[in-house]
Parts: sequence; C-alpha cells; structure tokens
Amino acid sequence: MAITKYEFLTPDQIAHFMTHGWVRIPSCFTPQQATEWIKDLWTRLGYNKDDPSTWVLKKINMPVLNTLDVREFAPKAWGAICELCGGEERLSEISRFWGDNFIVNFGSEKLKRRGRAVGPRELDNWHVDGDTFVHFLDSPNQGLLVIPCITDVLENGGATYICPDGIGVVARHLRDNPEGVTPYMARRGEESRFYEFQWFCEQVKDPEKCRDFQQMTGKCGDVVLLHPLMMHSASRNVLHVPRIITNAFVCLKEPFNFDREDPREYSLVERKTLKELGVDSLSGWMIKGDRETLKPGRERIHERMKEMELRRLAGEDVGPVADSGVEVHREIVKGLVWKPDQATAQSV
Ligand SMILES: [Fe+2]
Repeated sequence: MAITKYEFLTPDQIAHFMTHGWVRIPSCFTPQQATEWIKDLWTRLGYNKDDPSTWVLKKINMPVLNTLDVREFAPKAWGAICELCGGEERLSEISRFWGDNFIVNFGSEKLKRRGRAVGPRELDNWHVDGDTFVHFLDSPNQGLLVIPCITDVLENGGATYICPDGIGVVARHLRDNPEGVTPYMARRGEESRFYEFQWFCEQVKDPEKCRDFQQMTGKCGDVVLLHPLMMHSASRNVLHVPRIITNAFVCLKEPFNFDREDPREYSLVERKTLKELGVDSLSGWMIKGDRETLKPGRERIHERMKEMELRRLAGEDVGPVADSGVEVHREIVKGLVWKPDQATAQSV
C-alpha cells in the first residue's frame, strides 16, 4: 500500500532526503535514555572513562550483547524509518531492534595535539554498509543506514563523513553489474583488483564523481537516516572527546522494486535511487546472479570480543580491549590509496 500521508517526516525533511540522501530526526530519545543504554560501556571496554591514557584504541566497533525495541525506545525514529522505506509492512522483524554494538571514536592525544582536521579524501575507510551479502542494486539486506547519536557528535570530533553525490556512483555501478558484486564492489573474478575499501576510495578521490562531503554531526538523541548506498567513512576525532553511535540494522522483506506498476508505490529510498540514476523506473532490469550471503571475519572477531566483555562484566580483570572489531587488510589498502605522508592519519 502506498503511503498517502506522512505522519513523521515533514515535507522539508522529505525534500532534504531527496536532495542530499539523508535526514536528521532530532530528539528521538532523551539523554537519560542514552546514559542508561551505555551504562556498562566502560566496563565492557576495560577502560577508565575519566582517564584517557587508558583508551588503548582510537576507535572501536563493539559486538552486540543486548538489543532494545526501537518502537518503544525511539518511536519518532521508527516512524521515520518506516516512512522512508515505504511502510512498516515492508520491513523485516529484525529492523525493530537496535543493538548495543556501540561504535566509539576516542581520537587520541596525538591527533588532538596536532590539531589539524583530516579531510575526507585523506580518509581510508570509505564504504557502503553490508559485509554479509553479495550486493545488487535491489538488495533488501540493507534498507537504510541508521546512525543514532548516543553522545553529541561534533564537527571534527569523530562525526561520520558522507559523500551524497556518491549515491549515484554506487547505484550506477550496481545497475551496470546485475551479476552482483562483493561488499567491496568487486565483480566476480575481480576480487583481488577491488579489495577492501579501494574502489570506494578511488571514487571519492575523483573530483569528477565526488565533490560533496559532509560530516554527520548531531545532538545526543538525534538519529540520522541515510540512503543505503551512501558512501561513508569513519573520521579522525581531533577533539579526543569520545563520540558514541551505533549502527542500527534495517532490512527489507522483499528486494527494492524499481519497476512498480503504480509509481505511487515507490518508497522514498527507491525514488532517491531512481533520481540518482536519472530515470523514472528501471523497466526490465533484473539481477543475473544468486543472492549469496557471506560470512565476514568480523563475526569471529566479535565473538572473541563478546566473550571478553562478558568476563569483564562478571568482574574478572582481563585487561583493556585492544581489538578494534573491524576486519582490515591494511597492507593492501595502504599500498593502493595512501601516500606516505598520510600514514599518521590512519584510523583503526
Ligand atoms: Fe559503515
């Protein structure tokens, strides 16, 4: 059923999403809710909240221990998510639950002392989300990118960098490769050519393709909703004040449909994809490969981290976490996209 009346998104928010591919929904949960949500965070990490010298990592992607129901925790965000995706009935059950897989960007004393903001083209972490499936233009696995701001997220304080004009770049690549590509956008048989973040970093460095870069800042309680093909990158936190977000999961029951009989049935996300492709529909377009799922090494790392976090929560002294929770192949990425003078700007 087409949405005929938007109850959560305002006309301005819809227009903003259609132009920029993202929208910020303010005050979806209170600072008190945020404090309660992260009450075990420092114990899980084995870090002292008040002593930055104990923060071993610059950035960490934590595993999920518990989930909460978004409909109760942040009903305004849930309403907006549903409206962007074309209605609650199009979302899978799992989309309703946000995990405590917090992503904490601590920065470092060194970055703070240097005090220089690191620009988007210097970053090495550009990607679109979804490391558990072969990507097609219509993949239902990643319906939306959702960033709940659990602390204030400040400019140059670890805010996620995005590239709105990259939506079209990714959409065209997926449209032109209906056989499917890896999460790193490599065609089958070309996995070693486009490995890790190389493809994305190459697009971002190309001024013909990518010119618009923005930092996803926000107040504690804001939720930023982004198009699923939005290229984004972790950034350097030069303020050295911990920035906490999580990466909530939105999954569709059915693949995106870019050839609907009734155009009113297109979701806002589908409309934005079509707009970036410069067409009203993709008549006759269909995938030509299997919708395979993948098992990233990250899952094994998170199992290990989870075990250690549970031991810390049980009172055992197992030391601070040094596992970033991200599977990376730095040597390959480094050789391909880094210049030597940028080596000190790397994120973990
Ligand atoms: Fe991401």
